[in-house]
Amino acid sequence: MTEQHNLIPNFELFSPHFNANPYPIYAQLREHAPVYPVTSFGGERAWLITRYEDAAYILKDYTFSIDRSLFMSSEQINQITENIDQQLLSDHSMVGCDPPEHTRLRNLVHKVFTPRMIEGLQGRIDEISHQLLGTVEPQGQMDLIDDFAFPLPIIIICEMLGVPDSDRLQFHEWSNVIVGATPLDAASGHNQKSDFIVYLEQLFTQRRLQPGDDLLSSLIAVEEEGSKLSQEELYAMVILLLVAGHETTVNLIGNGVLALLQFPDQLKKLQQHPHLIESAIEEMLRYGAPVDLGVRRWAKEPLQLHNTTIHTGDLITVSLAAANRDPQYFDKPEQFDIERKDNRHLAFGQGVHYCLGAPLARLEGQIAINILLHRLPNLQLRVPPETLQWNPGPLRGLRALPLAF
Ligand code: HEM
Repeated sequence: MTEQHNLIPNFELFSPHFNANPYPIYAQLREHAPVYPVTSFGGERAWLITRYEDAAYILKDYTFSIDRSLFMSSEQINQITENIDQQLLSDHSMVGCDPPEHTRLRNLVHKVFTPRMIEGLQGRIDEISHQLLGTVEPQGQMDLIDDFAFPLPIIIICEMLGVPDSDRLQFHEWSNVIVGATPLDAASGHNQKSDFIVYLEQLFTQRRLQPGDDLLSSLIAVEEEGSKLSQEELYAMVILLLVAGHETTVNLIGNGVLALLQFPDQLKKLQQHPHLIESAIEEMLRYGAPVDLGVRRWAKEPLQLHNTTIHTGDLITVSLAAANRDPQYFDKPEQFDIERKDNRHLAFGQGVHYCLGAPLARLEGQIAINILLHRLPNLQLRVPPETLQWNPGPLRGLRALPLAF
């Protein structure tokens, strides 16, 4: 601990209390302790990074690796609380490896997850948003998270993948288990086949026999320079799309709508000028940083950063929320301004792992929020903002957002 570190008050990273408002602590860390020792979500020691410049450097530079297997023993990995589905993600998906392996996986998926495919979803996102709001409209109130932000991305992902409607509820439950919203049962511990994988096996078998016009069939068929996705890579890819694309988008919509309610002049402006939605979503991504602490890297070489020695194998956690409010990069960063210019936020990361789903997330956010504001123009919080409950964990999002309209 340095003298500067003594200036930082105690805080419990990842706790609901911390997630409710991490910004005053982040401001102090950015200023006095930009490389700060913390305990990471899995219980490991890590360095917390809060300045924009450092965050961007760590995400872009090849001195830092995303591949934990290079730095952790299998005993250490086994001590982490995770299920087989999360294990598959680290071992067989693009968020668990560096180039050139990463490039191979990302290119294969990129061939089927195309801008044209995303554009084609516009009509469905529109329809589903209207359907969800139509159900709650007569009640005069709703929980934005449960009634709107949560179901929308999962329906879209299920439809993209080609999961039959009749299986969607079950799929939804498994996805909750994978993202950690529901406790695991004993059978889904380490090295067991989860119910979800058993289900995916059947779905893949069906699609191999009868390919459809869906992402699952495309992922099976996709091939580049003789390379195809192995069975494990296919499972890991589906889990990745589900995990990476779900809670993140929920948080974009939840944190974004909360910001609008906290800055009524901006809400009014967006209602009067819906064409501002594109820059408004970018500002919601900057201001609300849905993935805050979900980005980790290991140092492949020793380095000095702001007088701190980072050793080979040290774990680094980047706060995207802190970087997004760095006054060195953003003018009046605490201000929520839906017309902010030159908004180079880091909410989707940077470098080779830059979010593959960013165009889809943007489209979902833009359509969902514009429809919400148009259909329910008198949105109001039903509880005082300081009583809102936040989820624990590396992603920053609300457990519920009770609204009246
Ligand atoms: C607002 C919503 C979203 C946010 C804020 C977000 C954020 C991020 C971030 C920060 C990363 C980088 C992780 C790292 O560097 O370690 C990432 C990667 C990724 N995201 Fe997203 N994401 C969102 C939505 C989506 C959606 C809808 C999908 C797809 C359905 C998706 C798929 C992915 C994938 C596949 C990666 C890994 C890319 C790679 O490793 O090359 N994301 N996302």
